[in-house]
Amino acid sequence: MKQIEIIKPDDWHVHFRDGEILKAVVPETTKNFARSIVMPNLIPPILNGKDALLYKKRIEKAIPKGEKFKPFMTVYLTENTNKDELKESYKNGLVFAVKLYPAGATTNSDSGVKDLRKVMPVLETMAEIGIPLLIHGEVTDKEVDIFDREKIFLDQKLDFICNSLPELKITLEHITTKDAVLYVKEGNKNLAASITPHHLALNRNAIFVGGIRPHNYCLPILKREIHREALIKVATSGNLKFFLGTDTAPHLTNDKESACGCAGIFNATYCIQILAQLFDNENALPNLEKFVSRNGANHYNLKINDETIVMVKSNQTLSFKNYLNIDEKQKIKIFKPDFSVFWRIAY
Ligand code: DOR
Ligand code: ZN
Repeated sequence: MKQIEIIKPDDWHVHFRDGEILKAVVPETTKNFARSIVMPNLIPPILNGKDALLYKKRIEKAIPKGEKFKPFMTVYLTENTNKDELKESYKNGLVFAVKLYPAGATTNSDSGVKDLRKVMPVLETMAEIGIPLLIHGEVTDKEVDIFDREKIFLDQKLDFICNSLPELKITLEHITTKDAVLYVKEGNKNLAASITPHHLALNRNAIFVGGIRPHNYCLPILKREIHREALIKVATSGNLKFFLGTDTAPHLTNDKESACGCAGIFNATYCIQILAQLFDNENALPNLEKFVSRNGANHYNLKINDETIVMVKSNQTLSFKNYLNIDEKQKIKIFKPDFSVFWRIAY
């Protein structure tokens, strides 16, 4: 048996949704994570400090008693975002970061940004006062092959933002390609990237194993093995610019198992155990804490958590629950990788 103790992890990218789903999924995150950045892509989206505060209160109600979890709220950038309101909400602590969805890039992104030039004044204000920009980095041009949308975004959009505003703190979220790894590695000091457990665990074959696998469909879409290998290499290297953002994205099974299934993988439940296994497989367990508990906090100028967790490796594989139940009829599929996991969280 083997044991490790690490600083309690943070998840710098979660979707909690709202209503009954929110009540069911929040505890899955709070049991293993101390803090999370919460995505604003609700219907309608979280657009300002007031929306963020009300949403935060709904999240806080769903946190099990005795847990000290902290949700960090975001607003959804649109071409109408008011920079003075944003400044005020940031100063009052209502808003932690701003999310840029290119319009149409993913789930509930219709009110996102069509023309980057229109939001440059808001981004300038953010750079001045230090508000982080979180980016879904894919172009939305339907002519561009879905597997190339991240790489083209780097060339056509991210490069422009980084060169125009080198002082802006940017997280390129849920990166999926070797190109993004390289871009972020070589980029300015204010640019970092988050990586999900599913993009570390799977390549694009997982979408088509003997048939179509809707539960492995997410955006950005899974990529070739060479890209997964580049992600694994950088995540396990301890490089300060790369950290965990799970992009845990609950959808009801009915909405995933459909002729037009939703994008998103719900991975909150066993995320840390899966990551421990992946790092162990690479002989990189000493760098797990950097990826899940240190690098993200460092990027956001936050202190690391005081608490620790203890993980134990046994010779018995972890048995995964298949579903998180919402009510008698509705459930969410829990992410399970195609390899055995021997790590557990002991306490
Ligand atoms: O797979 C995804 N699901 N990617 C996203 O960017 C959004 C998310 C969601 O909200 O379901
Ligand atoms: Zn997301």
